[in-house]
Amino acid sequence: MIDVHSHILPGIDDGARSLDIALEMAQQAVDNGISHMVCTPHIHKGFFDNTYATIESAFGEFSQSVAQKNIPLSLSFAAEVRVNEFIPIWLKQNQLPFLGALNGKRVLLLEMPHSHLPQGLDALVKWLLRNDVQPLIAHPERNRELLAEQHKFLWLQRLGCKFQATAGAITGRFGENVQSFAGSLLQKKAFHVVASDTHDLVRRPNDMRAAYESVAEFDVDYAEEIFVSTPAAIVKNATNL
Ligand SMILES: [Fe+2]
Repeated sequence: MIDVHSHILPGIDDGARSLDIALEMAQQAVDNGISHMVCTPHIHKGFFDNTYATIESAFGEFSQSVAQKNIPLSLSFAAEVRVNEFIPIWLKQNQLPFLGALNGKRVLLLEMPHSHLPQGLDALVKWLLRNDVQPLIAHPERNRELLAEQHKFLWLQRLGCKFQATAGAITGRFGENVQSFAGSLLQKKAFHVVASDTHDLVRRPNDMRAAYESVAEFDVDYAEEIFVSTPAAIVKNATNL
């Protein structure tokens, strides 16, 4: 499997707290059947002020440590970028790290606030698409406004977004409401990829194997598509492999 969303780079966001923990997370990913992981720290202005350069530097050190420990996990980096007004400027300045590309568009892992759909999201998504950037919305199943008003998901689909489900949402780690919303979106094949969004070893571990098995139980072809082939197609076109 290919995991396109993880907070494994140590010490630069609310993910791995130390290099030792991050290395154990890498091994946990391998034990889950993951062969490639994209390190995607938060870029969230005022909270986690990461930049392309800080992520690239943390990634360089971490990938060396993984190689030294002989952990059989290939790695690349991108970011989970919180919706904000600077995104168009960062794009123009080549400061946005992408997961890779799909159908000729660079893929941006885009995070909405957890509570609501932000003002101006439609304009941002349209602008990104016009500029050959495909927004991949991180974990829509955990957004409280979407959970309460599920018809609004259709609006996001029509805008042209693609969607990443979190493995733990499928296995029930975020409660019954989130699990049932994720389940209904899976039934409609609304997700394009599933990723771990792992933050640590215990509270937010890597749930990819259990999530894969749960999806494969009802549709093994769709499981292959969203855990393996689509994320592999995106990452194959990454520029920082
Ligand atoms: Fe995340």
